Amino acid sequence: MPRSPGGATVRGMSCCSHCRDAEGFFGDRTARRELRRYRKRGPPTSTRRLLDALREKGVEGRTLLDVGGGVGMIQLELLDEGLRSALHIDASRPYLEVAEKALTEAGHGERTTRRFGDFVELVAQDPDVPAAEIVTLDRVICCYPRLAALLEASVHCTRERLGLVYPRERVGTRVALAIGNLWFRIRRSDFRAYLHPPDQVHRILEAHGFRRTRSDRTFIWQVEVWEPADGPGGSTPD
Ligand SMILES: C[S@@+](CC[C@H](N)C(=O)[O-])C[C@H]1O[C@@H](n2cnc3c(N)ncnc32)[C@H](O)[C@@H]1O
Repeated sequence: MPRSPGGATVRGMSCCSHCRDAEGFFGDRTARRELRRYRKRGPPTSTRRLLDALREKGVEGRTLLDVGGGVGMIQLELLDEGLRSALHIDASRPYLEVAEKALTEAGHGERTTRRFGDFVELVAQDPDVPAAEIVTLDRVICCYPRLAALLEASVHCTRERLGLVYPRERVGTRVALAIGNLWFRIRRSDFRAYLHPPDQVHRILEAHGFRRTRSDRTFIWQVEVWEPADGPGGSTPD
C-alpha cells in the first residue's frame, strides 16, 4: 500500500482530475517558496486573522485537522502555543512533504500526522478520518468545485470550531479568477479557482446546525469561525 509523507498509510487516495492538477499547481517549488516567505514574514494577514480568531477561545490541549494546510503555517503557529496534535490532509504531496520537514525541524514531528488525498473523498471512503476540536480550511474553499460536499465533510469532522478563509465576493476577485482560470485552460490543466458565494457557504453551514461566532475580512478574504449551535461535539450531519 502506498505511503504518504510522514509514514501514514494512504487510504482513499483517489483524487479527482481537479485535485490531481491541483498537485501540479501546488508543486515543490511553490511549496518551498511559500515556506521561505512564511519564515521571513510570518503568516499572511488573512491567516493571522484566522489564528487570532481561534486563539480567542484557546487552542491549548485541542486537536487540529488542517485541511489543505499547505506548508503547515497554522500547525506551526498553534503547536507552539500548546495545541495537542495536528492532522494535515492535503491533495498536494509536495506541500505535505515541505510541511512535514518544517514541523519536524520545529520539534513538532511527534505531534503531527499527514494524509494525502482529496479530503472529501477521504471522508466519504473512510469513516475513520478522525474528527478534531478545531478544523481549518485556510484558502481551500476557492480550490474546490463541490462546495456543499467540502463543507459537509468539514462539519462532519468538527467537534468545536471550524475556521474558514475564503474569497469575498468582489468584482475584482471575479475578474482575477476568470483570468487565472483561462490560464489553467490554456495550460490544459483541470485545476480551477472558484468564487463560491459567501451566502451559499452560510446557508450550508447553518443547515448543518452551525452558527457563525466570528467574522473578519481583509481586502480579498473573508475570515470566519463557525461552531456547532448546540455546543462542542454537537454536529450531527448526514
Ligand atoms: C491555496 S492553497 C492554501 C494552503 C494553506 N492553507 C495556506 O493558506 O497557505 C490550497 C491548499 O488546499 C489543498 N487542497 C485543495 N483541495 C483540496 C482537497 N479537496 N482536499 C485536500 N486538500 C486540498 C491544496 O493541495 C493546497 O495545499
